[in-house]
Amino acid sequence: MERKFDKRILCIGAGYVGGPTMSVIASKCPHYKVTVADIDTEKIAAWNSDKLPIYEPGLKEIVMEARGKNLFFTTQIDEAIKEAEVIFVSVNTPTKTGGVGAGMASDLRYWENTARRIRANADSPKIIVEKSTVPVKTAEAMERILSVGDKQGMFEVLSNPEFLAEGTAIKDLENPDRVLIGAKETDSGKKAGDILVEIYANWVPREKIITSNIWSSEMAKLASNAFLAQRVSSINTIANLCERSGANIREVSRAVGMDHRIGPYFLNAGIGFGGSCFKKDILSLVYLCREAGANQEADYWESVVRINEHQKNRFVRRMVSAMFNSMAEKRIAIFGFAFKPDTCDIREAPAITITRRLLAEGANLAITDPKALEEARRAIGDQDGHVEYIDDPYKAAEKSHAIAVLTEWKIYGELDYKRIYGSMEKPAFFFDGRNVVDHKALFDIGFNVYPVGMPALTHF
Ligand SMILES: NC(=O)c1ccc[n+]([C@@H]2O[C@H](COP(=O)([O-])OP(=O)(O)OC[C@H]3O[C@@H](n4cnc5c(N)ncnc54)[C@H](O)[C@@H]3O)[C@@H](O)[C@H]2O)c1
Repeated sequence: MERKFDKRILCIGAGYVGGPTMSVIASKCPHYKVTVADIDTEKIAAWNSDKLPIYEPGLKEIVMEARGKNLFFTTQIDEAIKEAEVIFVSVNTPTKTGGVGAGMASDLRYWENTARRIRANADSPKIIVEKSTVPVKTAEAMERILSVGDKQGMFEVLSNPEFLAEGTAIKDLENPDRVLIGAKETDSGKKAGDILVEIYANWVPREKIITSNIWSSEMAKLASNAFLAQRVSSINTIANLCERSGANIREVSRAVGMDHRIGPYFLNAGIGFGGSCFKKDILSLVYLCREAGANQEADYWESVVRINEHQKNRFVRRMVSAMFNSMAEKRIAIFGFAFKPDTCDIREAPAITITRRLLAEGANLAITDPKALEEARRAIGDQDGHVEYIDDPYKAAEKSHAIAVLTEWKIYGELDYKRIYGSMEKPAFFFDGRNVVDHKALFDIGFNVYPVGMPALTHF
């Protein structure tokens, strides 16, 4: 007979958010049964195996501890819906690729399919928690889909956006800056909100659990991502000016960040932001602005994405121009492909755009990454032998004309660059897209070094 649990929680969507979020709930609340369901059978099989489908520091340990006790991964979605009292929905909400709002608006088809499936299978009251990032007013639309016919009044929809950052997901979930719960301002809405507060209160201090109306909660998630992305684009514009003026972006960022009103985070210049969220969420915000007739506001936020695209193009142009305007048949070692360190996620990674541009210039690439090499191979392929995928960065650098650092993995700051320099073609170039190495030290070894936001150090 199954153990008795105080609560049965289901999450539909076993991706980068659903998997880690539910694993942490299961590990913090052994008295709850936590089930994670997905239509992707391979992904669920991986969650049930020794090789989890995603890499996050600390994730494997908590999954192994809770799996089979109070944490379960399944494709039996209908049964799981029936038994759950609280259902988180964490399916993907990508940018629409066709139809009205193509390239801007969020594609809510996965969300809507899930809502319909919940309605079809539920035979008792349920709290539905919107975990996916969605446009403002989505919860309202979902409630309409859920509450037709004989199921009226059976569901209460809450908004509980996820603020975790990939690479630090477990830390963020265990110790969040805040948990935001948006609920309808009705008795039943407040009651449902209180139930979700109780779940988080198992490990999150009460003062960090904040509540709001549903629309504010949905808007706060879009606004948070827009602000974070905007800081990256802002510092990158200043970095580009630094390169031309002799200023040093590290010194500028440090001075700017010491102002307590600004703060030091997200002020590292580089080749731009990636990941599945920032671009998609800003474009969704831009679409909302345009729909509301707020075109100035739309233009403002759209420029954050435009600057980010510019930053990647600019990096490639700088490489080409430094390497005598010809990349044809030169071997370039790409250090890092993931969109950020400590993840295997390459969605919207700047490396995708940059490697494609370099291939268009005729370069041969040796790509290395500690965790995302298979993902990179799936995205780029071998391009008729023009791309190699190599685990060992020393081997990737051998006989190359240049190294380009595209992800700030810690290891790239710690390699033996004397040895690497010795194995490369000369003149050897180093394009530090993430400012991870000691530029002066590399210059002294013999490299021509091109950091972001600082003048180049060259021997010419
Ligand atoms: N990745 C992040 O860092 C992050 C952070 C905060 C919020 N978010 C938001 O969370 C949501 C999920 O993001 P993610 O990165 O986990 O996406 P993901 O693509 O990794 O996972 C989504 C999962 O949902 C599954 N799915 C789709 N339709 C389904 C259905 N009808 N039934 C069951 N499963 C279904 C997919 O198979 C997939 O495994 C998105 O809205 C995203 O914007 C993501």
